Amino acid sequence: MGKTVNVATTGTGCSGSDLRVDGERFRANFEALARFGQTADGGVHRPAFSPAHLQARRWFHEQAERAGLEVWVDGAGNHSAQLRSDRAAVRTLLLGSHLDSVPNGGRFDGALGVLCALEVLQTVQQSGISLDVNLEAIDFTDEEGAYVGLLGSRALAGTLRPEDLESSPGNHEAFIDALEQSGLTKASILSASRAPTLLAGYLEVHIEQGPRLAGSGIDIGIVTSMVGITRYRLRFLGRADHAGTTPMRARRDASQGASAFALVARDMVMQEYRGCAVNVGNMAFEPGVFNVVPAAVDVSLEFRSPDDEQLQRLESALVKQAYEQAKHFGLELQVERMEAIAPAPMSAAVQRTIEASSQALGLKHKSLPSGAGHDAQSLATLCPTGMIFVPSVGGHSHSPEELTHWKDCVNGANVLLHSVLRMVGFEQAS
Ligand code: GLV
Ligand code: MN
Ligand code: MN
Repeated sequence: MGKTVNVATTGTGCSGSDLRVDGERFRANFEALARFGQTADGGVHRPAFSPAHLQARRWFHEQAERAGLEVWVDGAGNHSAQLRSDRAAVRTLLLGSHLDSVPNGGRFDGALGVLCALEVLQTVQQSGISLDVNLEAIDFTDEEGAYVGLLGSRALAGTLRPEDLESSPGNHEAFIDALEQSGLTKASILSASRAPTLLAGYLEVHIEQGPRLAGSGIDIGIVTSMVGITRYRLRFLGRADHAGTTPMRARRDASQGASAFALVARDMVMQEYRGCAVNVGNMAFEPGVFNVVPAAVDVSLEFRSPDDEQLQRLESALVKQAYEQAKHFGLELQVERMEAIAPAPMSAAVQRTIEASSQALGLKHKSLPSGAGHDAQSLATLCPTGMIFVPSVGGHSHSPEELTHWKDCVNGANVLLHSVLRMVGFEQAS
């Protein structure tokens, strides 16, 4: 359990520099939240709009209400809790992340950031500190892309387009049902944008999800930029045939084209696209039985680069390879571009603020780019945005093995707290 120093402060006379989050309350909240959708192997299964996800969101609002915070849900389903400034402030500083998870994911991805945000609001509230901004903890809808990646944060930033809601990589009918059950519509999602003039910025705490911090004994990562992500569905089309009697040379086997493509894509990225990643996340075979040559294979393809120009070159090269492999195995290919999320730099000023906070708290820090996508990516186009990473043990994430030592979670929350105070000019002024 992390060291907890809660300094009683009253009014604006408090310097704020000794203020710390309440590690015990924070941990109790973390354990309570992890029960929604918990899996036998210690992870959580909370895809967006699943019963467990909706329960987790309700729980978040109940905690916030119990703490005397104002709560609401916007047109994109984003769940907010606000600590209103007692100075009739116009602008809001957003702090958040997401409560949805990948299927059979870990307990920390997203959940930690929402709980850090809630904890900071409660800490500031109890300190008696008066700030010139409203503080809002926000849980964004479908960060993981069960239906539409970064749905809630892109809607809030005003960058989600009507066509993004039509070509959702997830099952479209299930998406429409999920919206209906939550009282949302495509129109309500598209009207959830906020004016940049009303926002003082956005800060997000997240686990690193990779091995760099834990591997080098660093406490805090200061994110410099966020990777761009493009997703495609490729459909390799062959011909169903008897698996025992059709001569090997006569087959038009869709599995061969899809598999060859996956191997070539990996080699190409490793040899020619430094800093990029490619993933074949799924292959669905039709008819998908032992004794029929596969007639079709649907491939879920995702690739990432921190650089827009490199991402575009990689896209052309991968699509070209898919056509070449299809041709080689006598197949047809259908190509559908599902989603494209641009790389995003984090605000230089916010990075300096996070660095100053880490230093003031005596924490070792390091600047690094993020290979994962985050809601901060959407917000970066709207207001000054920054991200605070904490170490992931073994670098594991998107799996039940996800683990961050509790002291590191508390460090992340305290860096968030002090970054908030610095961003609104409180610590420097006092
Ligand atoms: C979000 O977790 C991502 O896919 O990077
Ligand atoms: Mn994730
Ligand atoms: Mn996440």
